[in-house]
Amino acid sequence: MCGIIGYLGYRKAMPILLEGLFAQEYRGYDSAGVAVLEDGTLRVEHSVGKIALLEQKIGDNIGEGVIGIGHTRWATHGRPTEDNCHPHTDCHGNIAVVHNGIIENYLELREWLQNQGHTFTSQTDTEVLPHLLEELYQTDLYQAMSDAVARLRGAYACVAVSSFDPRRLVAARKDSPLVIGVGEGEYFLASDIAALIRYTRNVIILENGDIAVVDDHGIKITNQGQPVQRKMVYVDWDKEAAEKAGFPHFMLKEIHEQPAVMAKTMRGRISDDLEQVLLPEMDAAFSDEFLKGVNKLVIVACGTSYHAGLVAKQSIERLLRLPVEVDIASEYRYRKPLVDEHALVVVVSQSGETADTLAALRESQYNGAKVIAICNVMDSSIAREADCVLYTWAGVEIAVASTKAYVTQLMLLYMLTFYLGQRLQILSGDYLHHLLQELDELPDKIAAQLPTIEETTREWAEYIKDYDDAFFIGRGLDHSVALEGALKLKEISYIHAEAYAAGELKHGTIALIEPGIPVIALATQQFLLEKSISNIVELKARDAHIFGIAFEQTQSMAKVTDGCIYLPQTDDLLAPIITVVPLQLLAYYAADYRGCEIDQPRNLAKSVTVE
Ligand code: F6R
Repeated sequence: MCGIIGYLGYRKAMPILLEGLFAQEYRGYDSAGVAVLEDGTLRVEHSVGKIALLEQKIGDNIGEGVIGIGHTRWATHGRPTEDNCHPHTDCHGNIAVVHNGIIENYLELREWLQNQGHTFTSQTDTEVLPHLLEELYQTDLYQAMSDAVARLRGAYACVAVSSFDPRRLVAARKDSPLVIGVGEGEYFLASDIAALIRYTRNVIILENGDIAVVDDHGIKITNQGQPVQRKMVYVDWDKEAAEKAGFPHFMLKEIHEQPAVMAKTMRGRISDDLEQVLLPEMDAAFSDEFLKGVNKLVIVACGTSYHAGLVAKQSIERLLRLPVEVDIASEYRYRKPLVDEHALVVVVSQSGETADTLAALRESQYNGAKVIAICNVMDSSIAREADCVLYTWAGVEIAVASTKAYVTQLMLLYMLTFYLGQRLQILSGDYLHHLLQELDELPDKIAAQLPTIEETTREWAEYIKDYDDAFFIGRGLDHSVALEGALKLKEISYIHAEAYAAGELKHGTIALIEPGIPVIALATQQFLLEKSISNIVELKARDAHIFGIAFEQTQSMAKVTDGCIYLPQTDDLLAPIITVVPLQLLAYYAADYRGCEIDQPRNLAKSVTVE
């Protein structure tokens, strides 16, 4: 998705802006640009494609300007061309603007501005902004911005710089994230903290409706015309978190971080004696009376986060016997969902900014339901609007393909399930203790097994890399994880992959099985093992090449597969947390063998802030 960076200070702005753009590359983009004030004139540079091309274009000519803005664009309105790149300028090149989000009424604004004599050079919605500022500017860029945003419908995070007001940046935010980094005599504006932690760790998070002015006198923030104070937070992410730490790709680094972030997600949430789940956020948000009145849970999310929700449905229904619906956010929001004050809605989002998930949250609240958000990004829009937030603490996830966020989502969904079981007095003390003990041991078990899993999946990937199609099968919880395995393989290696409930194949899909075709068969659920093995045998009889994934006690898999990874034993209920790891590594190595751009797969963005 698009990324914003702005700088005002005493250092040359150009390298800082480029650095800020590089730090946001992971968000996905198709073009980039910068605007720097040099000798009272705006210098604007654009480039389609990689940020390195923009850097090359600028070369040594970084200029002397100490104030400027930059942007990485992911095309929505208008193709990825130089004309459509941000920053956009007004008719006379005096005002430049970068913008994330969508201005919904841009066509009507554009027509009005054209009637006022403005000439447009792009097809973007953003270009109405500099023209609107030009039209409304009298003596003060802040006032022009206030008047301009009052006319906008939609979502925006924008930053403007102008030769009329040469020591000033003006920013506005609604439904799209924007932060101010505060340094010594210098300021940074960014859509993403990762873009500025290299320079400062003191950050102000702007809220919806805020307009901020940054100049030599400091920062002034207003909301609806009134001055407001926003607290400065210290961001303690270590610098390493934004780098690859020696791994060739962020995705591999993030897969290896999983044991650590799983442990981090549990920290302080399980009592030392492993008897209780502690979620004070839940205690504070919901009374016993409310929880007892809940007649169903509804989990809403997109992509990988949706797959985490599918796992939670099975574990919640199995343990709590409470009905759970799981829905894709883009479907849920438009189907007049049957939720009311007796439903408890859980939205799951790594970024906390996914437009459809945010809309689903609002739709649920509109219908009277309370919403719990499971988020990774602190103070993200979803986190701020939910009735209760549980953070996954996976740290910054840079690779577009989600891995560590997914396992921490699973951890937290399990803890939420156990918490509800304990609070509603459904789970017995002994069983809860057993599950918490198993959960607690998982990070170490995974860390110990990772080298072996990695070696085997690399071998499997060498086989799979030459195929155009692959199948993933499993029953029950294994099926939910199979869906995630297929998504990972598709999105980074571009191999077509499908996941099926193992018992469903013979109702049609088995017709696609040809000799040699790779099938990844998950068989961790003991009570379904015989059934799963029968399904594997059906495929083997048609000469499919079977890669099995099972627990170490299930040695019978050796007889029916062409190779099997045996995972350290845990409770069947928790299997998804561990079975997903070989699937992530398999996708990673298949993509690596095929020479794909693993961290930034084609056509994908890290955070989908548009519908
Ligand atoms: C796939 C992936 C996506 C996201 C989806 C939702 O690897 O990362 O499918 O899971 O776009 O994003 P969040 O969780 O940020 O709402």
